[in-house]
Amino acid sequence: EKGGFETFMRKEINEQPTAVADTLRGRIDETGQIVLDEVRMSDQDFRDIDKVFIIACGTSYHAGLVTKYAIEHWTRIPCEVELASEFRYRDPVLDRSTLVVAISQSGETMDTLMAVRHAKDQKARVLSISNTVGSTIPRESDAVLYTRAGIEVAVASTKAFLTQLAACYLVGLHLAQVRGIKYADEVSAVLDELVAAPGKIAKVIENLEPVREMARQCAALGTDRVLFIGRHVGYPVALEGALKLKELAYLHAEGFAAGELKHGPISLIEDGTPVIAIVPSPRGRSLLHDKIISNIQEVKARGAKVIAICEEGDRITAAHADFVFETPASPTLLSPLLTAVPLQEFAAELATALGRDIDQPRNLAKSVTVE
Ligand code: F6R
Repeated sequence: EKGGFETFMRKEINEQPTAVADTLRGRIDETGQIVLDEVRMSDQDFRDIDKVFIIACGTSYHAGLVTKYAIEHWTRIPCEVELASEFRYRDPVLDRSTLVVAISQSGETMDTLMAVRHAKDQKARVLSISNTVGSTIPRESDAVLYTRAGIEVAVASTKAFLTQLAACYLVGLHLAQVRGIKYADEVSAVLDELVAAPGKIAKVIENLEPVREMARQCAALGTDRVLFIGRHVGYPVALEGALKLKELAYLHAEGFAAGELKHGPISLIEDGTPVIAIVPSPRGRSLLHDKIISNIQEVKARGAKVIAICEEGDRITAAHADFVFETPASPTLLSPLLTAVPLQEFAAELATALGRDIDQPRNLAKSVTVE
């Protein structure tokens, strides 16, 4: 049942192109409109939304962080992202015109469910994104969009994460469409790029051997910590890369917004400390690219060994980093679909080299049904 792979996690990493393609299939109708699964909300309800809150836990929270950049850019509606366990207990400002987007692979995470119930008590509308048809969170929501990752067996989330991103992009584009599109050209261009994403993810997966080699080297060197840095959507990807490494390899791993390094974390860098940098495309938002190159220089000057995840043909990054892993060109907002993959593989390989059980890491459960 592992389909020829040694672990479920490896199988699930490899299923990502299909899982994302399945999640997109049939969701864009002939007229280019996005179709949700279960909607107990009118178009007018969607038009009345003046604020979005995304709530989730763990990896699903990281998908939410990426979505904030997309929703605010495409719709101009203010969007906040919060850990479900925090949201519930701090009296957030919610009303009828607030849309709460709950992201949960299992649909049963107790913290997220409690946050959904709290939001509904306050009359907010709830749209959920889940991988489990008929689970509690979708049942209690006003609208649902299911991811179609198939059953995810490994405790560490991989294909569920990528499909959550795909579904979240659809929700962002749906909101933009129902509310009247100011960026009609951009929305249709993004839809085309989204449809092209599975092919690019497959390309990334075919070329992962150099990432595995880096991971084995880190394990052989007895690395005790790994730092991940990113900016813009690369920041949540850095958080996700660090979470994967923590849960699988039991190593101290942390993700930072690269601009925050100088405000404290840079003191963690010693000679040989691995730093994985998620580098945005050098095209378009090149300001962001320049900034992360400076961050790479800062950590290198203190002895870090820099592994950069960058766009193919990015010669500037190649000249500064110790090692580069190239991903196909993609619009910045969609790039997490590609850049997260080498980080999953890095964590899986490093953990395997350390003899860990990557499908069943210690102390973790697949579905967290306690608060
Ligand atoms: C990490 C992981 C967890 C889950 C979190 C939320 O690899 O799998 O962090 O993402 O427990 O679970 P769901 O999405 O089921 O609510």
